[in-house]
Amino acid sequence: MEPHKKTGRYSRIYAQLKELAAKSNDTDARMATIAAVLHHKMDYFFWTGFYMLRDGDLVVRCYQGPVACQVLARDKGVCWAGINSGETIVVGDVHRFPGHIACDSRSNSEIVVPVRDARGIITGVLDVDSKEKESFDQTDALWLEKIVALVYSAHEGH
Ligand code: SME
Repeated sequence: MEPHKKTGRYSRIYAQLKELAAKSNDTDARMATIAAVLHHKMDYFFWTGFYMLRDGDLVVRCYQGPVACQVLARDKGVCWAGINSGETIVVGDVHRFPGHIACDSRSNSEIVVPVRDARGIITGVLDVDSKEKESFDQTDALWLEKIVALVYSAHEGH
């Protein structure tokens, strides 16, 4: 997608998600809404969802797209790289990423964004896959980081 088109689409999605986040402080509800809105509005998002830490494992939570792995082998693959580095990971070609976990062979590029709670502790990641190579760039990273910050943002009570 052209850069200016991507920015325009993300800014509209962000405005919509900010409104929705203000309606409830339930983090599961917020993650479900984020996954659904992103998946249906960004046409190159082939799998969109959250893996969250549960007793030291990364376990799938709400997602949109084909059936995915339920638990990710520890310290392996792109999601764990996001958890362990605390950084957003952009992978242009998943087949060149050592240890990449292929839940669906149609995925070719991926972005993983750590999710932090109100104290700044990492609780999981947002993971998005695309069928095309090189789908994600710094525009995706910037906006998806803003969007995941909504998961635990303060409830404004309206
Ligand atoms: N590719 C991820 C696994 C999750 S699926 O993409 C949905 C990884 O390497 O961690």
